[in-house]
Amino acid sequence: MARLKISDEPIDLIDLINNKAQTSERGEYNSEGNDLKVYIETYGCQMNVADSELMGGIMMSHGYSPAQSIDEADVILVNTCAVREKAEERVFGRVATLSGLKKKRKGVILGVCGCMAEHLKTKISERAPAVDLVIGPDAYRRLPELIERARSSDKFDPVVDVRLDRRETYEGITPARQEGVSGWITIQRGCDKFCTFCIVPYTRGRERGVAPREILRQARQLAESGTKEITLLGQTVNSYVYEGVDFADLLTAVSQIDGIERVRFTSPYPVDYTPKLIEVMAKTPKISRYIHLPVQSGSDEILTRMRRGYTVGEFRKLVADLRAAMPDLAMSTDIIVGFPGESEADHQQTLDLVAEVRFDFAYMFKYSEREGTFAHKRIDDDIPEATKGRRLTEVIALQESICAEDMAKHVDEVFDVLIEGDSKKSASDWVGRTGTFKSVIFPKKGDAQLGQIVPVRVLRNTSHTLIGEIECNS
Ligand code: SAH
Ligand code: F3S
Repeated sequence: MARLKISDEPIDLIDLINNKAQTSERGEYNSEGNDLKVYIETYGCQMNVADSELMGGIMMSHGYSPAQSIDEADVILVNTCAVREKAEERVFGRVATLSGLKKKRKGVILGVCGCMAEHLKTKISERAPAVDLVIGPDAYRRLPELIERARSSDKFDPVVDVRLDRRETYEGITPARQEGVSGWITIQRGCDKFCTFCIVPYTRGRERGVAPREILRQARQLAESGTKEITLLGQTVNSYVYEGVDFADLLTAVSQIDGIERVRFTSPYPVDYTPKLIEVMAKTPKISRYIHLPVQSGSDEILTRMRRGYTVGEFRKLVADLRAAMPDLAMSTDIIVGFPGESEADHQQTLDLVAEVRFDFAYMFKYSEREGTFAHKRIDDDIPEATKGRRLTEVIALQESICAEDMAKHVDEVFDVLIEGDSKKSASDWVGRTGTFKSVIFPKKGDAQLGQIVPVRVLRNTSHTLIGEIECNS
């Protein structure tokens, strides 16, 4: 799903960078005469995918070209996530494999970039001695020079640049994006909320908005290359502000760009919804009728200790206000089970809230203690693993049953569906999304094209997909 989400699967960006490959008459040498090939592998959230595109843009503008496969890469960059221990372990596993490849092919540079680099810094080398580069999320402009330094270094230690920079927004850099129906733009970097469980404010630094001129430049560029749907990205995207321009103003401006049919954003923070923002959303049909609204817990006691800054009652009121303004609004959430001190009664309150709100989707996690956070320093991780596991199973089972029931209610409804591509299973079917971000599969028919919005009648469903047919020839 197009949101800031932690995935355990790597996202291969090679196709994306390939699209922007610059080759000159001299074949693999491009304009700056650099014959090095780079391969970027991405773990983690949507913001990391966007950052890999940014890294790709920086590398291409310095004459690198994309490696068709990891085997021909001169530089391998792994863009990482530190939000849960599992994510880091997975990267260490991958880096161990890549270190083996390095032994066979002398001179290959291996870099660990992003949140894990920032979190662990030089400690990365203790477990992954073959790593040549450790690069934090605010150091990507310096990537070409850092790579050069690593290539010419005969030292055993990696080149490390994990300086955080509260002014870095990468203005002026055009990411190496794949042209497609959907595109994303990072409008905010960092996070100032400091939820007690979360490593992100430490790995990504202070919150800062990207200048509106830069956002609109990229949005226009996307529209010109045929993108129909833009997702605006930030850790607490609706707290965006830049010299008097707030998030509602920005949404309005982006949705007015010719050619842009849909505007989404992720992830908003519950406290940062203003009446103005809700009003702008309600009166602008191009703005997503799907939002991600991370609640984390249904217990006031736990929310206080997480320092989320809202009560369950205030969250309920926000859901009610949003649904009153947009009756068709779909919502997803994030839930953490097993936060320190979570009693059975607290857990039951989370289950009750999930049953009451009936989210369209939920990302559910076991609490994972992260070194450096307030919770790690001051609160004991006292819930046994087995209890965390059982509570996670319970909340997943409840949410799955809600998804199955609510998806079935859409049978016979007609949705405007943005065609995103061929369905994975069959080239004779399209896959697309409703304005409420539900996935719809339907047979190709008439002259309907990629990137077009077509009416689709739902015939049946699974718990996460609608299956239908185009309502009329279009
Ligand atoms: N503002 C971002 C949050 C990034 S982290 C966003 O909303 O996308 C994404 C989610 O990971 C959080 O909402 C939370 O549910 C989960 N998470 C963060 N830290 C965690 C931890 N230490 N253990 C378990 N889950 C965590
Ligand atoms: Fe993390 Fe809370 Fe910010 S979950 S990203 S500290 S809003």
